[in-house]
Amino acid sequence: MPYETLLLQIEERIATIVVNRPEKRNALNGVVRRELVDALDLVRHEREVRVVVVTGAGEKAFIAGADIGEFAERTPIEQREAMEGRRVFEVIADYPKPTIAMINGYALGGGCELALACDLRVAARSARLGQPEIKLGIIPGGGGTQRLPRLVGFGRALRLVLTGEMIDAEEAERIGLVDLVVDEADLVARTRELARGLAAHSPVALRLAKDAVRAALEMPLSAGLRFERELFVTAFASEDKREGVSAFLEKRPPEFRGR
Ligand code: COA
Repeated sequence: MPYETLLLQIEERIATIVVNRPEKRNALNGVVRRELVDALDLVRHEREVRVVVVTGAGEKAFIAGADIGEFAERTPIEQREAMEGRRVFEVIADYPKPTIAMINGYALGGGCELALACDLRVAARSARLGQPEIKLGIIPGGGGTQRLPRLVGFGRALRLVLTGEMIDAEEAERIGLVDLVVDEADLVARTRELARGLAAHSPVALRLAKDAVRAALEMPLSAGLRFERELFVTAFASEDKREGVSAFLEKRPPEFRGR
């Protein structure tokens, strides 16, 4: 399907969604947000697709945040309207398949928040990440004040949100904001390797695992442990569980079918 601001490639059971506004550092305007939700919805129902990678076009930016020109003159009511409905951050955070942010450059503001909503983050060594909203006299509005402290801890999140300063990929890795830092030249290959590894697992188990781990952010321990046990038992209903265990006992690689 042709998009105005995105490229979508599906290959080896991996869908790669590329935000394609390099001349605006892939800033998130209304069209990009809408198309991202559309593309994610499309891929959600593709049984062939097992993993989604999100990245930015060009060498400079992953996503340099919300489109500042677009919201510059909005009133609070217009801004509220723009933030209503299904938002890309929540669509990604609740996505049934594993998601990877392939951070090829600046991941700022909404770009950093979009990466935070993904399950995993791989960054090029030259990438820079941050929540610079404070410098514009505003605050993060795509989940940054909530997902960032859950990922990197309260103090580090406050530092990023209050100073608005960017950090480099290595510091991001040190504080847990990024899972893997690689040389620019290896970014695509290393991300693909990670995605291929995930794509080989049972889609049923991946989904249950995501649901269980994400519940840790929302549930008290006792309820979370009960929830985990129920999902664990649910996994026993899948053909994939039978296949995974049989393959181990028969000393062959499993062939998971997502049932
Ligand atoms: N919204 C709208 N346009 C943006 C943008 C954003 N978030 N980020 C970059 N752009 C545009 C610039 O306005 C410029 O457009 P122009 O060529 O029409 O003037 C173009 O992208 C290139 O940006 P430029 O600043 O020249 O590129 P750079 O490589 O020197 O710097 C950044 C890149 C990302 C460091 C810098 O553009 C920046 O700080 N952007 C804003 C980041 C931000 O505050 N994000 C949070 C928004 S809430």
